Amino acid sequence: MIKQTLETALNQQINAEFYSANLYLSMAAWFSAANLPGFANWTRVQFEEEQFHALKFYDYLIQRQGKVLLMAQDAPPTTWESPLNVFQEIYKHEVKVTGLINALMDLAIKESDHAAGMMLQWFINEQVEEEANVDGIVQKLKLVKDNPTALFMMDQELATRVFVPPVAPAA
Ligand code: FEO
Repeated sequence: MIKQTLETALNQQINAEFYSANLYLSMAAWFSAANLPGFANWTRVQFEEEQFHALKFYDYLIQRQGKVLLMAQDAPPTTWESPLNVFQEIYKHEVKVTGLINALMDLAIKESDHAAGMMLQWFINEQVEEEANVDGIVQKLKLVKDNPTALFMMDQELATRVFVPPVAPAA
């Protein structure tokens, strides 16, 4: 059975992952309204990834005989200045999430919960990937600047992203 400290912290992370999901879906709606369906697709796929993250923590808490506690959600923002501004905000957000995951790992180590630490290792790797992917898009958008043709081509590229759930969860 999981310790109360970790149960509380993992419930907070479920909440944070659902907030991330809502944030990305709100961004997807903004991109759709801006006639950028590829960017809308990318952020919508990310919405699905964040739901997957939330459910991975949810399943883990249940597996460890913890009590799941869903919480009220803050509303995400609804408007941004530009595609570059959206992805700069995404990058900042993911860095914040990395900090949350690292704090969870610190707690698992403090509580000598090796099983939770192994589960969290998956998320630590995932955050490295997420930060790198988003930074790649930020850098491309900086090159695109106000060139509509380049933005159109990037939109087509982001339209190809599909959500593929990991086959072998680490938990
Ligand atoms: Fe759930 Fe984007 O990290």
